[in-house]
Amino acid sequence: MQVHIKTYGCQMNERDSEIMGAVLKEKGWQICGNEEDADAIILNCCSVRDQAELKAIGKLQQLIKRKNEDENFLVGICGCMAENLGKELFRRIPKLNFIVGPRQIYRIGEAISLAIKGEKPAFLADADDVTCNCKNNKLHHRNLQELQSSAYVTISNGCNMRCSYCIVPKTRGRETSRPMEAILDEIQLLLESGIREITLLGQIVNFYGMGRFPMINGESPFVQLIRKIHNLKGLDRLRFLSPHPSGFRDDLICCFGDLPKLCPHVHLPIQSGSNRVLQLMRRPYQREKILEITQKLRQRIPLISISTDLIVGFPGETDDDFHETLCLFDEISFDMAYIFKYSRRSGTPAATMDNQVAQSICEERNQVLLEKLKHTSLERNRLFLNSIQPVLVEQHSKRDPNVLFGYTPHRKKTFFSAPSEMIGKIVSVRIQDVSTGCFIGTIIG
Ligand code: SAH
Ligand code: SF4
Ligand code: F3S
Repeated sequence: MQVHIKTYGCQMNERDSEIMGAVLKEKGWQICGNEEDADAIILNCCSVRDQAELKAIGKLQQLIKRKNEDENFLVGICGCMAENLGKELFRRIPKLNFIVGPRQIYRIGEAISLAIKGEKPAFLADADDVTCNCKNNKLHHRNLQELQSSAYVTISNGCNMRCSYCIVPKTRGRETSRPMEAILDEIQLLLESGIREITLLGQIVNFYGMGRFPMINGESPFVQLIRKIHNLKGLDRLRFLSPHPSGFRDDLICCFGDLPKLCPHVHLPIQSGSNRVLQLMRRPYQREKILEITQKLRQRIPLISISTDLIVGFPGETDDDFHETLCLFDEISFDMAYIFKYSRRSGTPAATMDNQVAQSICEERNQVLLEKLKHTSLERNRLFLNSIQPVLVEQHSKRDPNVLFGYTPHRKKTFFSAPSEMIGKIVSVRIQDVSTGCFIGTIIG
């Protein structure tokens, strides 16, 4: 029996798909890379914006047509959308076979077995047996690919913040942090099997272990963790996603520059540059804090790359508020930004706020920021022209099999011609051309 897993959404979902794949493999399923050969398809879906849900529902409807021709073919919904819409999904799509929320992913095998028997399991957070994957200290469910050089490691799951626009606290629940030893053991095994780059994942990574593990010498549990990981033999690169501006304190800032394997890239979601909007969003920091963090980081490492997430058109966002965001954008000069048009999520406080912003205004603000981003990212990328960068090689370019791509420590995607043997290695590349989104170079060793 073969199962195909299709992933939508963020890196947490990608990692969860890996875990589900490995759990199923243990139970005797084969994981297949294409939909056509699969006896079962799992859609691991995201709910963060309406568009993400619509995309998955569209795909689901397409798969249901296949079910009409082959009644043994199984389709399941997992991930944040499973949790958000719950059993309502069975009402909307009666032929759907199973639903598994993100806190129940270790039960994916059970869900499919029940579905084969004709039942319709829905394993959600409120089911009797909640198995939080972060409490699971065993390793760690991996199917490492040949030549894979980087891996995600989930250090915490869930979120205790209550940002007024966000569905994630509902879908992933309260924050749980894994024990430090379990994380270190997992990373040690990854390094022994040839992984060179680790990306730590959590809804708010820098809140890792807060209140559960003590501060030591003024260092937060997260900083203690990254310092310990940094000492592990075999590690070349360490990254993390996503930190929150609150709690991005000097102990963390000092790691940049102090720890050579900690990559000079920070993804720092700011959401807005207007203090008034930040307050409405229930983001507990102000624009001054964002400026302070970014300035301190650039004082330590002038070329450090800084990316962000921003929402335009949050309810009540005025032209003046948007202007504040534009000014902050100018002041920081982000290397990269993911700009989202506000999407109303039912059940969140912002969904019922007055002054919802018209779609046309969201669109306009989105375009203005994208235009600005084009300039700042090109300007930042030009700083690397003619430099030699170590590139961790990932894969062949889709367009040209003679071209490979990989990432620099600053997380700049870099293309260059080289033989396939270079995949998985760190090579030196001279950067000869840059665009807003990538580098092009020549391998020099
Ligand atoms: N935990 C992370 C964000 C996770 S969600 C943090 O707090 O930084 C990823 C991004 O989706 C967010 O940073 C936000 O920019 C965006 N997002 C979340 N809810 C949204 C909504 N309702 N509409 C538009 N974008 C949203
Ligand atoms: Fe959502 Fe806010 Fe938590 Fe991030 S910090 S996951 S935006 S509630
Ligand atoms: Fe989406 Fe859930 Fe990630 S809502 S962004 S898949 S945490």
